[in-house]
Amino acid sequence: MSVFRYAAVVLAVGSLAGVIYAVASGAGQSSVTAQRFVNLQEGAKPHEGFRRAHAKGFCVAGEFLSNGKLAPYSTAQVFQPGKTGFVGRMSIAGTNPTAPDLRSPVRSLALNLGQGDADGWRTAMNTPPVMAVGTPEAFYEQLSALAPDPATGQRNPQRIQAFFASHPETQAFLAWQKSYVPTQSLATERYHSINAFYLLGPKGQRQAVRWAAAPAAGTPAQPVTALNPDDPDALQAEFLARVKQTPAVFDLIFTLADPTDNENDPTVPWPESRPTVVAGQLLIREAQPETNGQCKDINFDPLVLPTGMAATEDPILRARSAAYAESYRRRARESL
Ligand code: HEM
Repeated sequence: MSVFRYAAVVLAVGSLAGVIYAVASGAGQSSVTAQRFVNLQEGAKPHEGFRRAHAKGFCVAGEFLSNGKLAPYSTAQVFQPGKTGFVGRMSIAGTNPTAPDLRSPVRSLALNLGQGDADGWRTAMNTPPVMAVGTPEAFYEQLSALAPDPATGQRNPQRIQAFFASHPETQAFLAWQKSYVPTQSLATERYHSINAFYLLGPKGQRQAVRWAAAPAAGTPAQPVTALNPDDPDALQAEFLARVKQTPAVFDLIFTLADPTDNENDPTVPWPESRPTVVAGQLLIREAQPETNGQCKDINFDPLVLPTGMAATEDPILRARSAAYAESYRRRARESL
């Protein structure tokens, strides 16, 4: 894989945006900020009114049918047996709102389930199962290494190589990237929380988890309409046509960490042998373009969690929350 292909993937995965954030050291010093992250990501010519990462996407809506199997682990209403509606967004990574769907190395599914302080849950998931780096500082360093040299407008391969050579934690991500084969539909991808969270149970217990939305058994692997490689909106067109015929269904699968797993490090995959719980199914029944869509004004902040869930100490989570808010502030002001 060329340095530039690799760089594109890492850029996309990081969703590149901004972050920031008052540092993880707890010492009160601040090394990177949400403003600096978003500045770096949007570059000299921001796409006004659009998300500064995952700029291209469309809205979806449907319901989560909980089977109750997660209820012993979490008191959250969404995991009790029953139905919870959601509005979501499917997107591709990158900062260009008109980028060709089929060229993006990362695809995404974001959901806003339930409502209110107690029951609202937002999650934004990506196709890779891990991040390349595990701290906001390293992520900022990575973005800086990948940014074009202002003098030449080109990326500097030596600088990029030096960055990755000095960050061995990127290995698991690289291994995933090598084996990943994009599917022919957004309905047949597997989307990962990447960061870990805690489930808070009825007996006061706490369980670290990651989750994934995986295509349910019986999901047709073939696109419902032939993908036109020249259509920049090929994946969106296929998905819109698909849900007109039948809902896109995903199993929501939780992986339970062992006490030996580090829930605060999103660069390390947990062993395949960890137990999993299928909490229910996500049924996407509707899809519509983002302009005037219900998802347009949602900030899929990963720290919006219901009672019965909590954030881990993973510093990326705070960075994401701050960056999403900064991106949201900018795009909302521009839209107005
Ligand atoms: C420090 C690391 C990260 C930073 C700085 C970052 C930054 C951003 C920003 C600024 C946005 C646009 C938010 C908006 O305007 O609403 C965004 C969107 C998004 N990010 Fe991240 N991100 C990071 C890590 C991640 C990770 C680990 C995941 C996957 C688990 C992820 C998934 C997404 C998705 C799916 C969206 C689009 C959500 C939507 O449809 O609105 N990001 N990210």
